Amino acid sequence: MTADKVTRIRTMKGRERIAALTAYDFAMARVLEAAGLPLLLVGDSVGMVVLGYPDTTCVTMAEMEHHVRAVARARPQGLLAADLPYGSCATPAMAVESARRLIAAGAEAVKAEGGRSILPQIEAILAAGIPLLGHLGMLPQNAVVEGGYHVKGKKEDERLALIADALALERAGAFGMVLELVAAPVAREITGQVSIPTIGIGSGPYCDGEILVTTDLLGTSPGFIPKHVNKNWHLAEQMRAAVVEWKQSVVHPGRP
Ligand code: KIV
Repeated sequence: MTADKVTRIRTMKGRERIAALTAYDFAMARVLEAAGLPLLLVGDSVGMVVLGYPDTTCVTMAEMEHHVRAVARARPQGLLAADLPYGSCATPAMAVESARRLIAAGAEAVKAEGGRSILPQIEAILAAGIPLLGHLGMLPQNAVVEGGYHVKGKKEDERLALIADALALERAGAFGMVLELVAAPVAREITGQVSIPTIGIGSGPYCDGEILVTTDLLGTSPGFIPKHVNKNWHLAEQMRAAVVEWKQSVVHPGRP
């Protein structure tokens, strides 16, 4: 079943674009499920858009397991991937143990941030039979030390490093990779060079698919919404209006 879902994503490359979103709880997973997405991600963005942390480095394994369990209860048809949180992959043995915990919580695949710098960890996870989605470009778990969320690949050395990382992920056996804030021409080049799908976020139109933080799409993220999101939906405003209307009906019953 998991293998079929992974194969489905791999074979979408060049045939059908991949639309993926993040999910953090049962209710959200049920809504996304109705759209028939081939891939749902319990992202460690949960820390920023649900748990109120300043960045993703605060998210713990226990928190990831909690949210993975909630999403898995919705039994999504699409592949359920989960982020390996900050600090959970320090060694290959630790990476495998963390990946196994996420799988035990209900994930069907894991995502790890980084390429050649964590290759032994990636190889160990794959050798343990756990499907792995790579993540290259701007790595949110590094954003604090890098002083923000910057586009990658504009400089030649970054371009070469990204291509080498992408080829390393493909060789290792990842079933796909997220390219986050990668300069569009470089995302296009990587997409043309690897046989596995690239799933972009803020990386231009040339990837094999797109992923978004669902609360950014819906306009319910509590903080800043990135530039690459079309801000067409403002559900937080509608939620506020519903609450105010209800409060008025309680405080002033009978008033129109
Ligand atoms: O944590 C997350 O939501 C992610 C996506 C932005 C790809 O990694």
